[in-house]
Amino acid sequence: MNEINRETAWNLLTEFTQSESLRKHALAVEACMRACSKKHGDGSREAEELWGVIGLIHDFDYERWPSLEDHPYRGNEILEQRGYPDQIRRAIMSHAEYTGVTRDTPLEKCLFACDELAGFITAVALIKPSKSLAEVDVKSVRKRMKDKAFARKVNREDIIQGAASLGVDLDEHIGFCIEAMKPIAGELSLDGSAAKAG
Ligand SMILES: [Fe+2]
Repeated sequence: MNEINRETAWNLLTEFTQSESLRKHALAVEACMRACSKKHGDGSREAEELWGVIGLIHDFDYERWPSLEDHPYRGNEILEQRGYPDQIRRAIMSHAEYTGVTRDTPLEKCLFACDELAGFITAVALIKPSKSLAEVDVKSVRKRMKDKAFARKVNREDIIQGAASLGVDLDEHIGFCIEAMKPIAGELSLDGSAAKAG
């Protein structure tokens, strides 16, 4: 079995996922999970790596197997074949509501609390004239959450429930995830360069 670390996780993601936007989603959730590991985990470097890896690969099977029958089950099988431990596989299974795998640990709760929210924050940044995360604040995210026509595929209830089950105030959690994503704004193409490029 290969060692499981950020590099092998990235290789797994990019082996199965060609879509730039899905890769960016993975990076955004990774950044949020790394930040969460410091707040809700034990603060160790090992925890940060583990939480980050889980964020990075949580949807790795989605591009190939997007149906509810397959995702994240197919991915789970592949992870098992490749020697990924139960802790990682269980967290990934638990992020999909319909698997019936409960979210028991802070790690599992954080993945659920960051997943849809990271996608939503990205969507809010993309409608700014600058397409920049620097322009996104808690207020603009909350405002868009009320706009049903905006980013319809993002389940608002999941965002609300995610923060609630983690025991954090929703506004605080939104702000926390925005800040977590800002250092990688360039990788996410949310640093203003996309707007300049036209
Ligand atoms: Fe996701």
